[in-house]
Amino acid sequence: MPTLFRYPRALVAGAGRLPFTSLMPLVLAVALTAGACKPREKAPPQVARALREFEGAYPLEARPNGTVRAFDIVAEPTEVALVNGHRLRVWAYNGQVPGPQLRIRLGETLRVRFTNRLPQETTIHWHGVRLPNAMDGVPHATQPPVQPGETFVYEFTPKDAGTFWFHPHVRSSEQVERGLYGVLIVEDAEPPPYSRDAMWVIDDWLLDETGQVLPRFNTRHDLAHDGRWGNVLTVNGRTDEVLRVRPGERIRLRLLNSANGRVVMPDFSALEAKLIAVDGMYLREPIDPAGFELAPGNRIDLDITFNQNMAAPLPIFDRFSSRRPNRLADIVVEGEPVIPAGFASPARAHVPAWKEGLQVPEHHGFRLNARRGGPFGIEWTIDDKAFAGHSHHHEPLLTLKQGRFYRLRFVNESARLHPIHLHGMFFRLLARDGVPVDEPFFRDTVLVHGRESVDIALVPTDVGSWMMHCHILEHAEAGMMTLLEVTSG
Ligand code: C2O
Ligand code: CU
Repeated sequence: MPTLFRYPRALVAGAGRLPFTSLMPLVLAVALTAGACKPREKAPPQVARALREFEGAYPLEARPNGTVRAFDIVAEPTEVALVNGHRLRVWAYNGQVPGPQLRIRLGETLRVRFTNRLPQETTIHWHGVRLPNAMDGVPHATQPPVQPGETFVYEFTPKDAGTFWFHPHVRSSEQVERGLYGVLIVEDAEPPPYSRDAMWVIDDWLLDETGQVLPRFNTRHDLAHDGRWGNVLTVNGRTDEVLRVRPGERIRLRLLNSANGRVVMPDFSALEAKLIAVDGMYLREPIDPAGFELAPGNRIDLDITFNQNMAAPLPIFDRFSSRRPNRLADIVVEGEPVIPAGFASPARAHVPAWKEGLQVPEHHGFRLNARRGGPFGIEWTIDDKAFAGHSHHHEPLLTLKQGRFYRLRFVNESARLHPIHLHGMFFRLLARDGVPVDEPFFRDTVLVHGRESVDIALVPTDVGSWMMHCHILEHAEAGMMTLLEVTSG
C-alpha cells in the first residue's frame, strides 16, 4: 500500500518550489490560449476532462425513501461524570458528552426538533452533510440564531452515507469546548457486514486547578497559537476508553476529532488497519492510514481485522507530536475466536484523479494571516478580512457557479495551523507547496500547515451561501471565516 501521508515535511517544503515553478509556463500558456484564441465560454480541455471525470462521483440529488427518523435534541448546562468519574460541569446535547449518536440509513429523512436551554443563542450545524442551505445552521446566513427557550426543526435527507457530526455555529470556541457535539452516522442502504461498528470521538479539555472547564475563551495565547489545546485528552468522554474485540473480528472503527484546536495522528500500525473513508466519503481504494493528520473536524473510517490474540492491551497513540505521544485508548483482543468475515472493502468509490487539475488556472488564492486588533486583540484573516463574529449578515468573498470545475488555493502566510473547512461541498487535495498529492478521496477539511500553500479542486453541486472557515475554533471566532456563494448556472 502506498504511504501517502508520511513524507518528510522539510524535504517537501524545500523541493516544492522546483516542480511548481517548472509548471508555471504551462499554466500560463493554458490561461493565455483560453483567453485569446477561444471564445470566452470555452473552458480549457483540462476542465472539460475534469468535469467528465467528476460525473458519478456522488449523487446530485437526495433520494428520500419516505421514512422520517425523528429525534429531540436539547442543549443545556449539566454535569457529567467525565474525566475519571470527576463531576464536570458542561453544556451538553441531551445530557451526554459526546451528544447522542444519531444513526439513520441513506434515503431516510432526519428530523431534529432542537430546543435551546443554554444561557446564550446557538444553532446546530451538520458538519460534512450535503443538505439544503437553509438547514446548514449558520446564524444570519442560513437561519436566525435559536434564542434561549426557542425551538428549531432541522429536517433534511442526506445525499451521502458516512460519518458526520453536528455542533453549534455560534460562539463555537466556547460552545463546542463546553461539550456540545454529537455524531451523525448515515449508514449505507446496505451496510457492509462488519462484526461491529464502533465510534471514537476524540476531544481534549482545558481544565483549571479545580478540574472544571477553564472559563476563559479566545485568549491571546490561544489566538497566537493553534487555538485552545487542552490538558486532558478523552475518547468518547473517557480518559480510559477500551475497545474489546474477539480474535478474528473485522470491525469498522470511525474516528472524529471534535477538539477545538488539537490535531491528532492516530497510530494503528500494530494492527491490520485500512483507511476506507475520509470525512464521511469512501475512498477509491483502501489505503494505509499511517500518517493521516486528523485535524479538528476531520473524520476517518478504518477497516480493521484482528488476526491474533494479544497478550496485553494494545495502546493506540496519537503521534502528531512525535516527541510527546498521547495515549488515546486501548484495544483488547480476547475471548473465543470468530471466523473473519470475508467481504469486499466498501472503499471503491468513484473519486476523480484530476491529474490535470493543477494545469487549470487557479480561480482564487485565499491568503491566510493574522494581525493585531479586533475584539480579542488578534484577528485571523482571509484575504485581509476578518469575519467579525456571526452577529450580522456578511457579503460572500467569492461566487462560484454550480457544476463548474474550480481550482482554489490556500496560501498560509502565517506560521500556524489552519484546518480549512468548506460547508456544503467536498473537494480533492491536488498539491501541497506545489507538489502534486494524489489522495484517493474527497475531503471537507484540509489541514494547511504553517507557511504552506495547498491547492484543492472542487465542483460545487449545491446552491446557497456556504461557510468556509478555519476549524480551529478560536481562529474562526477571531475572524478566519468567510462565505462562498454558489449560484445556479
Ligand atoms: Cu464543523 Cu462550520 O463547521
Ligand atoms: Cu486557523
